[in-house]
Amino acid sequence: MTSTGVRPATDPEAYLRQTQDRRMASLFELLRIPSISALSAHAGDSRRAAQAIAADLRGIGMDHVEVAETGAHPVVYADWLHAEGAPTALVYCHYDVQPVDPLELWESPPFEPVVIDGRIVARGAADDKGQLHMHLRAIEALLATRGALPVNLKVLFEGDEESSADHLETWVGANRERLAADVGVVSDTGFFEGNLPAITVSTRGILYAQIDVLGPPTDLHSGAFGGAVENPAIALAHIIVGLKAVDGRILIPGFYDEVLPLTPDEHTAFSDLPFDDDAFRRETGVPALAGEPGYMTVERVAIRPTLDVNGMWAGFEGEGTKTIIPAHAHAKISCRLVPDQTPDATYERLEARVLELTPPGVSASVQMLGGGLPFRSKIDHPAMAAASRAVESAFGIAPLFTREGGSIPVLATLGRELQLPLVLLGFANPDDHAHAPNEGLVLDNYENGIRAIIHFWDELAVTDLAR
Ligand code: BES
Ligand code: MN
Ligand code: MN
Repeated sequence: MTSTGVRPATDPEAYLRQTQDRRMASLFELLRIPSISALSAHAGDSRRAAQAIAADLRGIGMDHVEVAETGAHPVVYADWLHAEGAPTALVYCHYDVQPVDPLELWESPPFEPVVIDGRIVARGAADDKGQLHMHLRAIEALLATRGALPVNLKVLFEGDEESSADHLETWVGANRERLAADVGVVSDTGFFEGNLPAITVSTRGILYAQIDVLGPPTDLHSGAFGGAVENPAIALAHIIVGLKAVDGRILIPGFYDEVLPLTPDEHTAFSDLPFDDDAFRRETGVPALAGEPGYMTVERVAIRPTLDVNGMWAGFEGEGTKTIIPAHAHAKISCRLVPDQTPDATYERLEARVLELTPPGVSASVQMLGGGLPFRSKIDHPAMAAASRAVESAFGIAPLFTREGGSIPVLATLGRELQLPLVLLGFANPDDHAHAPNEGLVLDNYENGIRAIIHFWDELAVTDLAR
């Protein structure tokens, strides 16, 4: 008996039941650190988050804990390699979060976590600190009760995922041996619509670009010059209309050339998912859904490539009126990509199309701001079956195999640099408001997710992964 009169737990489940309050306090402490990777003013907070995670890893008994420099925000590495003969898994999560604006739409402050209606509400609760924390607590429960993990574990937690820096790729390339494993486990995805347990089997890639249209060197009086001088904002509008048809087809020559369809089996499994278009529409708050002809909504948001305008600006945006021809106009464009499209080839084609669409009287340029490759996992890999059994044990329902429209550029990096099969073991709910005000994580997903991770390590220990 301990001094509190509670018998020390002898199995992970009993341990988790006894330590729930402490676990929440520890999660809240991590969520309170505003580790916003995109804002340089928060660089110190990112470092503080990395150090807090490292201290946690040391406290629960991980070895070789290191906060390593990458040139951007640091990565946290640790391992536990005493499960002789058992497989080795590399766990990846990110500790950085998205900016919080618009702040006024948060019902509680983003870095003051609270539980409201069964959800842990805070920036990063779902994406991705909450999921990172689940791994820490799973390791803690195993080491505290059994004194050992069933598998060898390496963890890699990064702080630049949301700001799409290339630093991690370089760091992974330089640390290949240290990161070698039999399987990679990435917890940065979520369940299916309706919070149905799911394992993600593909993510889309991304190309992020900016279009700048330049007209006269300064704004001109639209009365004195209008009619004879091309308006950069209108030229930009023409360019954008020429990139995507009203029906949703992308009008960039060659854009679809490398799109690799799913196999018939993959397609059947995917199109059988219980997707409710109307519920999805209501969640978005729009009067009607839109998209590429010949494809279902579930396909449009996950396995088809897209082109979107993320922002546009030009000329006068203040109160009242001002009569000008603006000197310049700009747009931020992103394309979600699917295998085998690449950001580089897509950028070349986008640039060529923009230049072709640019009317005389203005000049246009396209800069690439970021990119990441799409990813598909090996569905037949034995680790996938192990993960499926683990999720079923913890949540009581076998997970669906789903395809995600979001992007995790590091997946392609881990696959290429480390030759790792990857399991995307994520626990967010599509309704978690990731990147938006009032982000949260369903408390039950957090709690059962820790159990699923523990089951997964136990399952992996008895799975033949045939390196
Ligand atoms: N965790 C997300 C990726 C994701 C999105 C998974 C939706 C499952 C569903 C990740 O943190 C993210 O936001 N990625 C960015 C990538 C970008 C910053 C390069 C994205 O998808 O916009
Ligand atoms: Mn994420
Ligand atoms: Mn994100």
